[in-house]
Amino acid sequence: MKILVTGGAGFIGSNFIRYVLENRPDWEVVNFDALTYAGNLANLADVADSENYRFVKGDISNPDDVRGVFGEKFDYVANFAAESHVDRSLYEPNLFLKTNVLGTQLLLNQALESGVKRFLHVSTDEVYGSLGPEGYFSEISPLEPNSPYSASKASADLVCRSYHMTFDMPVVITRAGNNYGPYQFPEKLIPFFITRALNNESLPLYGDGLNVRDWLYVEDHCHGILTVFEKGKDGETYNIGGASEMTNLEITRMILSILGKPQSLIKFVKDRPGHDRRYALDYTKVKKTLGWQPKMKFSEGLKKTIDWYCNNQKWWKDILSGQYRQFYELHYKERK
Ligand SMILES: NC(=O)c1ccc[n+]([C@@H]2O[C@H](COP(=O)([O-])OP(=O)(O)OC[C@H]3O[C@@H](n4cnc5c(N)ncnc54)[C@H](O)[C@@H]3O)[C@@H](O)[C@H]2O)c1
Repeated sequence: MKILVTGGAGFIGSNFIRYVLENRPDWEVVNFDALTYAGNLANLADVADSENYRFVKGDISNPDDVRGVFGEKFDYVANFAAESHVDRSLYEPNLFLKTNVLGTQLLLNQALESGVKRFLHVSTDEVYGSLGPEGYFSEISPLEPNSPYSASKASADLVCRSYHMTFDMPVVITRAGNNYGPYQFPEKLIPFFITRALNNESLPLYGDGLNVRDWLYVEDHCHGILTVFEKGKDGETYNIGGASEMTNLEITRMILSILGKPQSLIKFVKDRPGHDRRYALDYTKVKKTLGWQPKMKFSEGLKKTIDWYCNNQKWWKDILSGQYRQFYELHYKERK
């Protein structure tokens, strides 16, 4: 089996590549990534020399790059490549639409032409919008995205659907909750707060900190994606839930207490516009039809993640001292 993984130098993509190389050693993996600020080949340093792994630099929204990589044949395509940070989508919505929607459509076109056996599009629970205190999103919940990021992901999902309906293309979509684990870029809540706490910096928490997310350990997500690749049905969408609803405030308090840092580092700051209150996924479909469910308990996964950031300080310190620093200074000014 030969698989093209787009966005494989990012957080989830790199974990997925490592997971595939470990669990499907006879597969050949090609990682196609533009290496934006979020792409980092250091995420795959331990497997970079594997015989069945290769990196190709390229942009999913550039027709020549996409045509180029499809010069070879793939059985599977896993589309992780995206602009993925909601905060950034408030500042650069056009880039989100270009990469996440047009990029996905270019990939679909080329994958269709080359006759892939399965195209898996990695999406998010954010496409469903915001929930009140009760209830869960199922795969048939309406799409009501509230940020330019989630709108771009919802749009890409619909383009994927249309390629299945119109061209009978073997497309599947997965929608996951908030991921956490090793190699997550330190702009996202958990690594942002772990790295800041380790530096004894304040932890800027949006609003009242009571926004709820459904947390999914990245390895569980990778297992879910592989399960859908191998057992999923063409044209279907599968929610990949973490069964771990937590408020941002609870998580922040846990991080500080595990690290032995004072709770006084928490600093409440003005809320983000369009900040969804609660996400929670009903993942009965993937559990009943494909036999997948999350294994990691949140408290255990968080400890493992914190250990990883404590033991891999060079990885995140290199990022924070590089070009990301400029973005960080510019956009997080208000949150300091
Ligand atoms: N992180 C989460 O909690 C979460 C949850 C559900 C779904 N998702 C989805 O999973 C996917 C991966 O998320 P992540 O957190 O690993 O993101 P990430 O930002 O860590 O990684 C994105 C990767 O895509 C690459 N990329 C960006 N634009 C590109 C382009 N034009 N061409 C080629 N490569 C490009 C980047 O270089 C980077 O390596 C995204 O599609 C995201 O929407 C993420």
